[in-house]
Amino acid sequence: MEALLSLIALACSSLLLAGCDVKSEQGPPNFSGDSKRGMALIKHYGCGGCHLIPQIADARGNVGPPLLHVGTRTYLAGFISNSPENMALWIQDPQRALPGNVMPRMGVTPQDSRDITAFLYTLK
Ligand code: HEC
Repeated sequence: MEALLSLIALACSSLLLAGCDVKSEQGPPNFSGDSKRGMALIKHYGCGGCHLIPQIADARGNVGPPLLHVGTRTYLAGFISNSPENMALWIQDPQRALPGNVMPRMGVTPQDSRDITAFLYTLK
């Protein structure tokens, strides 16, 4: 029994070490954003019209790149270092980030872009 308990304790502590606490599931570390809200906002802004996005129903657009594994991609738009801050800026104003690219400025507010980024960063 004691051995079983210590095994459970060990399993729990390794889960914590692996970052499986509730907070880290909300999005990237040191970045505020609500990934659940972000999921709803992606539907609201209609990003799926241009992008294939995992976990978002009907997000099967093929104008822009599929956002599979975008949380671990090295560069955004093949040009900008991928970090949560840069992704949020991209979503707010892709024309400022990379003038002339096809993704339009969609009026995404700073808070909304952070929530969307938190969700996109769960796509590893
Ligand atoms: C009219 C089509 C269109 C819409 C709508 C659109 N995008 Fe894009 N998006 C693009 C295109 C095209 C690119 C690629 C730009 C490039 O590489 O120059 C892109 C690139 C991106 C990237 C970078 C991906 C990568 O791997 O380089 C992210 C992240 C992204 N879009 C998120 C969003 C989000 C979030 C929304 C909704 C708020 C959205 N997009 C709406 C067309 C669109």
